[in-house]
Amino acid sequence: MKKLIAANWKMNGQSAWASKPEQLFDLLGKIIPDRSQILICPPSVYLQQVAKNAHKYGMNAGAQNCHSENSGAFTGEISANMAADCEADYIICGHSERRAMFGDTDATVKAKADSVITSAMGAIICVGETLDQRESGEANSTIESQLRASTPEASTALNTVIAYEPIWAIGTGKTATLEDIAQMHAHIRAVYSDMFGEKSAQDLCIQYGGSVKPANAKDILSTDGVDGALVGGASLNMEDFAKIVQAA
Ligand code: 13P
Repeated sequence: MKKLIAANWKMNGQSAWASKPEQLFDLLGKIIPDRSQILICPPSVYLQQVAKNAHKYGMNAGAQNCHSENSGAFTGEISANMAADCEADYIICGHSERRAMFGDTDATVKAKADSVITSAMGAIICVGETLDQRESGEANSTIESQLRASTPEASTALNTVIAYEPIWAIGTGKTATLEDIAQMHAHIRAVYSDMFGEKSAQDLCIQYGGSVKPANAKDILSTDGVDGALVGGASLNMEDFAKIVQAA
């Protein structure tokens, strides 16, 4: 399986950043390494421009969130359909920042992911535990309950990616140990297997996110069960992001 290396720009960027896919392609020496699939998730207002450019260079583009309905009186929201119409390939669902700051619950994340799948894109469903949950030995049960309640019945390995992002590792410079990452990815695969069968679980792409940088990318991406990375801060700098792609 190719490693899915995704840039989550969060609320950063400007229209000039639409040329970032070309800059990344140049930094990679004008070839996308065979082992990587690159995904760029800009703020929605730039999605269409970024997607057009990303596709020119063999990369994918995605939105960072969507509403679960197709249309309606939901001021300020965008639907999965609209993102698909802007040529998105994926949508991130239930990032911990959305769960913590914008009221996303497991149930709304599941509904969003369902609408992403219905719109023929890939849903990147994020799960992650807090430091308190990890320190009190509840990391596994927290992740299992998020997974069971946030993953729609229509999920398959073809339309779903799970991103494991321990909340305490996001933007902090702290990363989980390689042992903890391997253990949690195996746990996620086991829970997914119980929900959707062993074959789907084997084919499932599970990304790690949380302070992935050029310096740790190779170790993280070669850890058992890690099929990609969801990169925040380091994806804002194309030199750093290119190094992470090359590490894969
Ligand atoms: P950082 O890479 O900045 O820790 O962010 C991770 C993240 O939240 C990606 O979705």
